[in-house]
Parts: sequence; structure tokens; C-alpha cells
Amino acid sequence: MEAPPEMPKRQSAIRRSMRRIRKSFKKKDGYVPPASKPHQYARDEKAVRAADCNFSVKYLGAIEVTESRGMSVCEEAAKRLRANPQHKVRAVLQVSADALRVVEEDGQQSPPFGVAVDVGCGSGQGTKYLAPHFREVVGVDVSDGQLQEARKTTVEGNVIYRIGSGEDIPAPDSSVDLITCAQSMHWFDMEKFFTECNRVLKTNGCIAAYGNGIPLPCTPNQEIQKVMQEMFMEIYRGILGPYTDERRTHVANLYRDIHLPCKDFKRDTTLVKKNIVRVDDMLGFIQSLSSYQIYIKKFPDKADFLSGYRKRFLDTLQPLNPSIPAEDIKFDFVAPIFILLGRKS
Ligand SMILES: C[S@@+](CC[C@H](N)C(=O)[O-])C[C@H]1O[C@@H](n2cnc3c(N)ncnc32)[C@H](O)[C@@H]1O
Repeated sequence: MEAPPEMPKRQSAIRRSMRRIRKSFKKKDGYVPPASKPHQYARDEKAVRAADCNFSVKYLGAIEVTESRGMSVCEEAAKRLRANPQHKVRAVLQVSADALRVVEEDGQQSPPFGVAVDVGCGSGQGTKYLAPHFREVVGVDVSDGQLQEARKTTVEGNVIYRIGSGEDIPAPDSSVDLITCAQSMHWFDMEKFFTECNRVLKTNGCIAAYGNGIPLPCTPNQEIQKVMQEMFMEIYRGILGPYTDERRTHVANLYRDIHLPCKDFKRDTTLVKKNIVRVDDMLGFIQSLSSYQIYIKKFPDKADFLSGYRKRFLDTLQPLNPSIPAEDIKFDFVAPIFILLGRKS
């Protein structure tokens, strides 16, 4: 196919932009390439793992990507530079073991950031990850039992837990830089929650609401996968569906029906969460669902219904690897991840 006539011009503009980006990486005095000084490599690796590896760069905008998506940083940066080649505000590129992050350097937004509040923090699984990046982290939950559990397992000194709710966040006005909700926002009265976010967030403060949708068994054999997934959904939707809290449909929908009331709003559904499991692990997941607990309480005579499914799952899976017991065959259990990001203007 013939290239459109403006292509060469556009390509050279991209090349110019990429050259500008490369040039904007400021080399430290005395820096030698890692290959010629192994000790430098070790130091760099340590900094990356500790998430304090920063480079000053010219303005690239505020873009955050996770591993294996580094190219989108460059593409997005090139797009922005093309749109405004005069823009030379400096920024900091942070490189950590699991992310590349570009942050505007306006004196306020360099790490460690100020205050993060994790609302609906439960046992603090997601709260602790914020600790290295913020001066102060507050986990908030309505359940005192969950908070006690969280306190037992948190060793980070800058994390505290407070009783509160999405509708009544225990923080002063304009004091918070980031609000996170991991698998929890659908439990809140969202209108009240957004009003609270607006009250406690500083200008430019952000909300990140995230979670994962329904996981499904995946195998390299398409036929086996189809049968496994159909049986899984038969349990999840067919049997337990009527006993599932309707607010969980937001999760099954990957929050597609929820918009954060921010001018600067972004939705990402490109990531997945993958666990490698056996049949019994997958059944354990089903048993942990509140819909399962409600079902077996309502129908005690059917409390053992999963054992029939267990046999069917094992029989289906066996041909995948006839040389080991079906109980030991491992497969992927994959759930889509959704992330809603908003910034208060
Ligand atoms: C599915 S758990 C998620 C816990 C944790 N964020 C995680 O990812 O493991 C949902 C949490 O939301 C809490 N929750 C429910 N309603 C809430 C509300 N209105 N305000 C704050 N937390 C609430 C529950 O107590 C529970 O700990």
C-alpha cells in the first residue's frame, strides 16, 4: 500500500521528538555505563528496587504505566512534545521495579508525596503498598475487626488505621493528596463519597479506585477451557448469582457504569491478575464468596453441592496432563483489572 504523502514528515518529527527526550535525560557527573562498571549496575538495581531511582527530564506530562508498557510512556511523551515543542518544564522520571512514572517537578509533587488515605482498606493489603511513596498513609474502614487485623500485619511506621467510612472520611478539608479504594468503592454511598473526596482532597489531589472482575479458569486447551469456564459460571451466576449483593454487579461490570466526577478522569482496563491454581484452590475461592455463605445457610441440605462440581472439574482437567493426578494439575485463574483515576481540579 502506498504511504500517505505526509508520513515522512511525521516520522522525522517523531524522530526529532525522541532525540529531544533522549537528550533531556541528564547524565550524572562521573556516570559510567553499567557494562563497564559492575558496581554501578548493582547500585542502580538497588535504587530501582527501592523505588528511589529518579532522572530529571524535560516535560513529559503526568503519565503512569506499569511494567511492559514502557513504550507507551515514550509514545505519549512524543505526542505531547509534538503538540507543544516549546514546552520545557522539567519533570522527574521515577523508575521502580514495577513501574515507570513521570511526575511534574513543581516542588510539591516529588516523592515522597504528602498524605494518602485508603478507604475501605480492610486488612490493609493495599494500604501498605502506599507506605514507601507517602509521608503519611491512613487506612480507613467501617469494620473495627478488619482494622485490628490490619494493625497486626503492618510494620511500616508511617501507616495508621482509623475507623471511618467512605461517607465520612476522618481527614481535615484540603489535606489529602491521594484517595485509594481497592475493591471497596461499590460498597459506599457514592454520591456522599464523592462529596467527601472533594472536601478532603487538595487541589490536584487524586482518586484511584480499582479492583478485579470475575476470575475465570484458563487452560492451553481451548475445549477444556470452555467446559471449565461454563461450569465455573454455572456456579458463580447460576447457583450463587441470586445470593450475590447487587452492588457487586459494579465489579462484574468492571466499574464501567461508574464515572468519577472529575474533569481529569481516566479509565484503564488493560491489565489482568493471574493466579496459578489447582481445582481445590479455585473451589476455595468460591467458598470465600459471601454469596456461597448465604446459599449454604439458606439450603443446609445442599451444603455439599461443590463436591459434585469438584469431580466434574477434575474429570475435565485430567486429559490436560494424564501423567499426574488431576488434583495436582495447575492452571491459570485470570481476572480482569479495572482502575478509575480522577484528579480534583
Ligand atoms: C472487599 S473488602 C476490600 C478490602 C481491601 N481494600 C482489600 O483490597 O483487600 C471491602 C471493604 O470495604 C469496607 N467497607 C464497606 N462499606 C464501607 C464504607 N461505607 N466505608 C468504608 N469502608 C467500607 C468493608 O468493611 C471491607 O473491609
